[in-house]
Amino acid sequence: MITSRRAFLRVLGGGTTASIALHWPMTAASRGVAFEPSKQDDGFIRLNSNENPFGPSPKVEEVIKATSSSANRYPLRQYSWLIEKIAASNRVKPEQVLLGCGSTEILRMAAFAFLGSGKHLIQASPTFEAMERYARSANSEVLSVRLTPAFAHDLDGMLAHASDSTGLVYICNPNNPTASLTARKDIENFIHNLPASTVVIIDEAYHHYAGQSGTYASFIERPLNDERVIVTRTFSKVYGLAGLRLGYAVASPKLILQMRKFATESSINAIVTQAAAAALDDVNAIDDFVQRNTNDRQEFFNQAMARAVKPIDSRANFVMLNTFHPADEVIEHFRKNNILIGRRFPPLDTYIRVSLGRPEEMHTFWQVWDALPYPKHSMQH
Ligand SMILES: Cc1ncc(COP(=O)(O)O)c(C=O)c1O
Repeated sequence: MITSRRAFLRVLGGGTTASIALHWPMTAASRGVAFEPSKQDDGFIRLNSNENPFGPSPKVEEVIKATSSSANRYPLRQYSWLIEKIAASNRVKPEQVLLGCGSTEILRMAAFAFLGSGKHLIQASPTFEAMERYARSANSEVLSVRLTPAFAHDLDGMLAHASDSTGLVYICNPNNPTASLTARKDIENFIHNLPASTVVIIDEAYHHYAGQSGTYASFIERPLNDERVIVTRTFSKVYGLAGLRLGYAVASPKLILQMRKFATESSINAIVTQAAAAALDDVNAIDDFVQRNTNDRQEFFNQAMARAVKPIDSRANFVMLNTFHPADEVIEHFRKNNILIGRRFPPLDTYIRVSLGRPEEMHTFWQVWDALPYPKHSMQH
């Protein structure tokens, strides 16, 4: 049952190769270029990187195709128009916006601008790991404070570590990998009580999936009048452009200037600028992606409940759940069955993180789940 998909893909792969041999490689083969299927075509169902499995939208795809002919040219920093567009869409000034090669590049710039030896980073555990990695490469110490039992940031615990040496605090909201929220009001109080010299990054990579509520409001849409706050966003998630790499920060002009010094030259490519602009304009597609995610997330919870499994409440496009077994083994079981799920996230060593894929992919996910070699009662609350 499970291997049939693999077999199907093998057959399909063979067919694809054959048709390519007929139609395409006349020129490539004669130049000695070997055809290799891309890694994405390797037959794995990818539920491991919290991408948008439906994106980018057809309109954005058109723009990408139309722009690809300029790939031979350097972008030559011709993207001030995009900064203006992003600023307008977020109701901030252009000098408050900084672009990065993914929001990951923004995290790197922040680490080098606000950390360094003698300064430390405070973050949650577990959380998205890039910030910690860059902090360490900037020679900073990292203080990780375990999430609360409700999987929110333990802001009191984090505050207890804060001092004049705290260069940066990283808050990921909704948090990756737990997909959980930390209450807006609590974050406000927390920032208020931090030392005056501490900069705070609020990573809103999953903002669109969080929905508005008393608990959640974006710090871009409802800004604090505080020069120390940086909010990061990405085009890699709901916009479906993870492979093209674009993210941005919204912050005070002063912090933007400090971070910009560490930007990689020409890291913003000419294709993604056009694609991102089209994605911002395609508002209906974003609504549609969010709605699909809401439905697929509900279906995931229905399937989990039917098995008496209770995931952490998700406010994102992925779900984390306790399997009560070593996560490594569960991850390997899925990998052997051609499904990639999220990596291990210590200290939650029995939890797995599953990105929501297309409905048919999730159907296969649950088939593979049902084939886990554990007694059912040992995986239930
Ligand atoms: C919380 C969080 N921030 C940032 C990123 C990186 O995104 P980008 O592709 O923009 O570098 C990710 C990617 O998974 C993420 O989960």
